[in-house]
Amino acid sequence: MKVTVVGAGAVGASCAEYIAMKNFASEVVLVDIKEGFAEGKAMDLMQTASLNGFDTKITGATNDYAPTAGSDVAVITSGIPRKPGMTREELIGINAGIVKDVTSKLLANSPNVIIIVVSNPMDTMTYLVHKTSGLPKNRIIGMGGALDSARFKYRLSEALECPASDVEGMVIGGHSDTGMVPLIHKAVRNSVPVSEFLSADRMQQVVEDTKVGGATLTKLLGTSAWYAPGAAVSSLVHAIACDQKKMFPCSALLEGEFGLNDLCIGVPCVLGKDGLERIVEIELNDDEKAKLAASAEGVKKTNGLLDSAL
Ligand code: 2OP
Repeated sequence: MKVTVVGAGAVGASCAEYIAMKNFASEVVLVDIKEGFAEGKAMDLMQTASLNGFDTKITGATNDYAPTAGSDVAVITSGIPRKPGMTREELIGINAGIVKDVTSKLLANSPNVIIIVVSNPMDTMTYLVHKTSGLPKNRIIGMGGALDSARFKYRLSEALECPASDVEGMVIGGHSDTGMVPLIHKAVRNSVPVSEFLSADRMQQVVEDTKVGGATLTKLLGTSAWYAPGAAVSSLVHAIACDQKKMFPCSALLEGEFGLNDLCIGVPCVLGKDGLERIVEIELNDDEKAKLAASAEGVKKTNGLLDSAL
């Protein structure tokens, strides 16, 4: 299993590290535009191999996609991260051109690659890859919901005062501060609905804290987060590499699913060797349906900025 990670910044390098430490990939190639940066990150990571016990070979390349040839999966993290106070949507002007260029270079070297999009605004960038690549929908996956769900579980474990491993919860909708839909009424602690432990107000606080999870960290860090984003996308790569048939909320091209069309937005997806193998149309209550529809309107509004951004 060969994986390319485009962008050797904090998210890309964290993703490469987590992939290596899970030891399911034979090779990870890091690519960046900054001279020597990807090569340096790769060498530094390889020097942890004997310490962290992995056999994956990590290499780096500067502005060269030849070493990525034959990749099975490619993760696009390239582009600028947001600064405190910015929305993800404000990044479209710079990141759209980068994502379009990277996609064509990846496909020129790996015609069968499955692409996972991380760059923001992620739902719109995922839609852009569909529109510019013409790939079948199973080979283009947007990573946002897996990260947002991890943050949801963190906030639930905080409220419940229990380990995050005791909690299950999923966030669907757009990967945006206002568009996320944490499915609080489906969240459980060891199969028990969290409503049996938390008040309505406390549950709402968990929802609100989840929605701004990225912005909260950007304010603290001065830039976008990287550990959880890197770990989240490495989990998607793992599911594909090992044909796990695991279900994650991923940004997928909708063609009528959930009553939505012609956009990419976070919905439950089964990931396996063929990438996005199935969209799972779970039952939503009226409030969840309304929130997902409103979120879709927000994503489509950002999609409308694509032409002027390219
Ligand atoms: C986040 O929410 C970078 O969008 C990513 O942290």
